[in-house]
Amino acid sequence: MGTGKGYGKTILFGEHFVVYGLPSIVSALGVYTTADVKVVKGNGWTVNDQRPATPGYKEQKYAEVMQSIANIINHLKVDIENQRIEIYFAGDLIAASGVGASAAQCTSVARALSETFNLNLDDEKINEAAYEGEKAYHGTPSGIDNTASTFGGLIWFVRNLGAGKNTMDFLQSPRKMLIVVANSGITASTTEVVADVRRLREENPEKIEKIFGEYKKLVEAAKKALLEGDISAVGNLMNQNHKMLQQITVSGEINDELVEIALENGAVGAKLTGTGRGGLVIGLAENEDIQEKIVDVIEEKGYSAWRTTIG
Ligand code: MEV
Repeated sequence: MGTGKGYGKTILFGEHFVVYGLPSIVSALGVYTTADVKVVKGNGWTVNDQRPATPGYKEQKYAEVMQSIANIINHLKVDIENQRIEIYFAGDLIAASGVGASAAQCTSVARALSETFNLNLDDEKINEAAYEGEKAYHGTPSGIDNTASTFGGLIWFVRNLGAGKNTMDFLQSPRKMLIVVANSGITASTTEVVADVRRLREENPEKIEKIFGEYKKLVEAAKKALLEGDISAVGNLMNQNHKMLQQITVSGEINDELVEIALENGAVGAKLTGTGRGGLVIGLAENEDIQEKIVDVIEEKGYSAWRTTIG
């Protein structure tokens, strides 16, 4: 028997851009998915998924979940011929698009398998195994989600497009960032949205390279603002990042609507987070009263929202 956990995450800057080797900033959330692994007689493996989830999420992601676990079992060379593995997922992370639910699941199961079979995997190896799992969700994961899920904290992440290691630097902000996470309730396909961006880039290389160039400056400014605890600069840069995400067509109407609601109710900045075209939006609040007000209004409009702190 073994157990493991993987954090949820929120991308503050750079979803999609990160796939192309541009820097990004991600924060792990304080909530996580847990995996418990039991070994019984027989062969093969089973999954019992008790994670809280956005309606429809688990059904839509079922095939990818199963493939991701198969990838991890394979990668870790766990014997499933002479024993049967029962995997139970639970935890307080609500499985939804945008929150790193797939990476949290991959990380938790890699940790649980490591403990069950005394593999003694360190965080680097757990992260590698979780990355193999993430490949089931789309062919070219940047690695940002599994990195946040494995290591936690606030991270400056740059994907290495060659054979070398990704860059992962921990950031510490002198000011806590009060965040509202709003859930559109729509489950997006990362595979499809990432493929659409790739197509757009192939069809309009100049236009996309120009946006990439602007984004590069933006993310450097965001790092500086975070390190200085300059909340209004961070908020302003989040707004600009959201506009760039609109330009690369990954923001859906629902994302724009939630961003507007957050801004109209006092957020200093708001943007989609994660895959987009549904999923989640984050808003940055100056103080707890504003944070609470944004959550209340979003809930009044029929969406779910929760508060979290970053930095
Ligand atoms: C998904 O959380 C983030 C994306 O940038 C995909 C990736 O980085 O692998 C959309």
